[in-house]
Amino acid sequence: MNADRRTLLKLTAGLLLSPLARGQAPFPEPPVLKSRDGLLQVRLKVAPTPLSLVGREARLWTYGGSFPGPTLRVRPGDAVRLELENLLPESTNLHWHGLPISPKVDDPFLEIPSKETWSYAFTVPQDLAGTFWYHPHLHGRVAPQLFAGLAGAIVVESPVDGIPELREAEEHLLVLKDLELASGRPATHTPMDWINGKEGNLLLVNGASRPTLRATKATLRLRLLNASNARFYRLQLEGHPLYLIASDGGFLEEPYEVPELLLAPGERAEVLVRFQKEGAFRLLALPYDRGVHMMGGMEHMGHGGMSMGTSPSGPQTLLTLVAPPRPKPLPLPKALAKLPALNPNQARVTRRITFTEDMMAGKFFINGQAFDHLRVDFQGRAGDLEVWEVDNQGDMDHPFHLHTHPFQVLSVNGKPLPYRALKDVVNLKAKEVVRLLVPLRNLPGKTVFHCHIVEHEDRGMMGVLEVG
Ligand code: C2O
Ligand code: CU
Ligand code: CU
Repeated sequence: MNADRRTLLKLTAGLLLSPLARGQAPFPEPPVLKSRDGLLQVRLKVAPTPLSLVGREARLWTYGGSFPGPTLRVRPGDAVRLELENLLPESTNLHWHGLPISPKVDDPFLEIPSKETWSYAFTVPQDLAGTFWYHPHLHGRVAPQLFAGLAGAIVVESPVDGIPELREAEEHLLVLKDLELASGRPATHTPMDWINGKEGNLLLVNGASRPTLRATKATLRLRLLNASNARFYRLQLEGHPLYLIASDGGFLEEPYEVPELLLAPGERAEVLVRFQKEGAFRLLALPYDRGVHMMGGMEHMGHGGMSMGTSPSGPQTLLTLVAPPRPKPLPLPKALAKLPALNPNQARVTRRITFTEDMMAGKFFINGQAFDHLRVDFQGRAGDLEVWEVDNQGDMDHPFHLHTHPFQVLSVNGKPLPYRALKDVVNLKAKEVVRLLVPLRNLPGKTVFHCHIVEHEDRGMMGVLEVG
């Protein structure tokens, strides 16, 4: 055996015995930037950053030096002033995903050139609560920039957080984001990635692989964010149901028990976990088929033929939750929020949106057209209630996302949802039709809607809504 091989064996053995390899990395959470006296003032550098990831040196692109970026914690009515200093070798911008704020501030058409700084200033809307996020939105470059590491969470606190059943729960943020490294850097997109959306072989929770969270309380409140380019997470907790308490845009009216939960790219959910017994329970990502396209073989797969799509052979462990001794969970909250019952008969406009794909050309369309920032696809009027009928005529899942104007889902394939919720992303499986109720806010300007598989967005699956 030569020396090189011996070293390699020693290294491998070391890795096998390290706590990391045994799935016992401690549970990390991104740094938190909190508003003080009604103001959150931040200067955030967006820059290539060397850091240590899953025990290795890696060079990602980060906000503020951390992966994921810092969590911004604010309250309704707070003023936010964020200066974004672009130290990337290319242009970027920042999108406040899910916040109903002016599209003149949250401007998807803005371009911040390399070496320049841009100031974002807005007030957090009243009556807002929940888990939101920020990420780049420069058309054509969203996918590479998001995959390189650029994403962070926004938490809007609200009086509802103060009810005892929530206040006394142990709260954690889980940013689900996959990654693939090639020579210590985020792997670049292959032609196939631009069709299916890029997935990585590392399934990270707050930047860690299979961390362990040792709970000190018997009730956990988990804020879940799917900040991945294209990976779907079909989440299940061993031995426990999940109690959904909030969706993308804030609280449900009451907790809704689910055996598992699907999170499409861009979606958020808040769940309560109520430990009934001692032990260690894995949070699993179950196999999910989102209809990825194989294009006649393996030759397009690149990177040594890593597993494609979100459906590897079996469940994958994302995280291990350890219950405290003799757990006695809190009672479930009875009432959370009150959501308006919108009446579709009062809608002034019904819009139709169809998703189609041209796999061979690697292009994605809405109503037969690729995105054009100079074209206005829909004109709306502030204050109007609209019905949007979204029809996925393609062969893969496409998560529909609308900026600025959170909506309620009226039906999926004609079936109503079992609960009321404010959403900004809704997934459509192949051939599915969803009907949405969209109350247009008094936030005039040009905003966008698109598929949140960001490769599809970059390749044309986006349209413009102008509200006057
Ligand atoms: Cu998170 Cu336009 O998207
Ligand atoms: Cu968005
Ligand atoms: Cu899509």
